[in-house]
Amino acid sequence: MEKLYIEGGEKMYGEMDMYAAKNALLPLLACSIMADGKSTFKNCPNIEDVKNMLLIMESLGCTCNFENGSIYSEPTAESSCLIEEDLAKTLRSSIFLMGSILGRYKKVKIAYPGGCDIGLRPINLHIEGLKALNVKIHEEAGYIICDGSNMKGGIVNFDVPSVGATENIMMAATLSKGTTIIKNAAREPEIIDLQNYINKMGGNVRGAGRSYIVIEGVKKLRSCEYTPIADRIVAGTYMLGCAMTGGEIQINNVNFEHIYSLIAKLRETTCKIHVKGDKIVIKAPKQPLAMKYIKTSPYPGFPTDLQAQVMTMMTVSKGVAIIEENMFEMRFRHISELIKMGADITVSGKTAVVSGVKKLQGAGVTAYDLRGGSALCLAGLVAEGTTVISDLWHIDRGYESIENELANFGVKIQRKR
Ligand code: EPZ
Repeated sequence: MEKLYIEGGEKMYGEMDMYAAKNALLPLLACSIMADGKSTFKNCPNIEDVKNMLLIMESLGCTCNFENGSIYSEPTAESSCLIEEDLAKTLRSSIFLMGSILGRYKKVKIAYPGGCDIGLRPINLHIEGLKALNVKIHEEAGYIICDGSNMKGGIVNFDVPSVGATENIMMAATLSKGTTIIKNAAREPEIIDLQNYINKMGGNVRGAGRSYIVIEGVKKLRSCEYTPIADRIVAGTYMLGCAMTGGEIQINNVNFEHIYSLIAKLRETTCKIHVKGDKIVIKAPKQPLAMKYIKTSPYPGFPTDLQAQVMTMMTVSKGVAIIEENMFEMRFRHISELIKMGADITVSGKTAVVSGVKKLQGAGVTAYDLRGGSALCLAGLVAEGTTVISDLWHIDRGYESIENELANFGVKIQRKR
């Protein structure tokens, strides 16, 4: 079993060209099956979630290739509409395929993706949204069976903004006749990226990025080449690492608007952040001040996907930070591991109170989920001695060789058995 070994104490210096966002690329790949012909995606990260999505697409009959950062995918005539349980469980994001398969083939059978490491992950909003498009849905033996033979445009009103459900409806509606309106849509940058991709394929989507999206159904889509937006969460992870270690790094290719909530919070801690076009430069102080209050919420609020990483920074900042996790009910699992390293954190329900300490101590810790695992890497950067992190598959889902990326910034890190 491979583990990461990190020697704490090095400041982070250097530059990184950011790759495409996992949470943009996964729905875009799902969407590509809606068009005949070869689709191309550029600047893609070689991460487990992407590789698993390609396996699922191949099980549906697509031919997929991944070489030198580009992904080529082409649906074939005999594409199936069944996503088996073992595949649906390897990748929760296979749920995005529900909308794209329905859009194109008007039927789909998909195993319940189930919960994951961070929570129950219900899909009621996906189901209700598709029913508003006149999809007939029944559940049988752990499968969701959809009949979209009479699909048509409708009005979808989400109780809460859901990224995945918004994306599923955008895709299903694009090849359904009539007009679909999504109210209380999620506003993440990845939603705008999906709109841009659908429109480049010949679709007609307007309003992404706001909570009111209009989709005009079209008859056909054509495949194209597309470069997804950069990964704002990976960028934010390394910016927080720099903020903790007192270094200075530059990240290229990122739209600073996409992580403005983090930039504003980092400036509160006296980090200096400069934006030059698509380049973000962060210069950290000797010891950052604590952010007073962090509350995760849908975009443009503070992203839940950076909560574990920002908490780690707060464990060694000056003062007390209150962190509220409002999106997922099991997203505090990194706290037990941070406490093992000497962090001072108390939890009450969905709120954690973090009091900065002088130093963390290296220890043997376990990654329990993707972002919590990356947070433990950040803790290792500042801990005294060696930190050993196990269960790396969680981290490899969303970071392309985190040890190489951190080593490029001057961190002493090794992956070995
Ligand atoms: C996407 O997940 C991201 N994943 C998540 O990133 C991210 O944390 C999340 O959006 C929120 O920003 C991808 O894009 C692949 P949601 P998604 O539906 O779409 C509730 C990472 O680390 N909800 O926006 O599944 C849900 O419980 C991952 O990269 C329902 O109640 O999230 C949550 O409280 C983790 N019913 C809230 O909505 C539903 O049918 C937002 O979830 C769907 C969601």
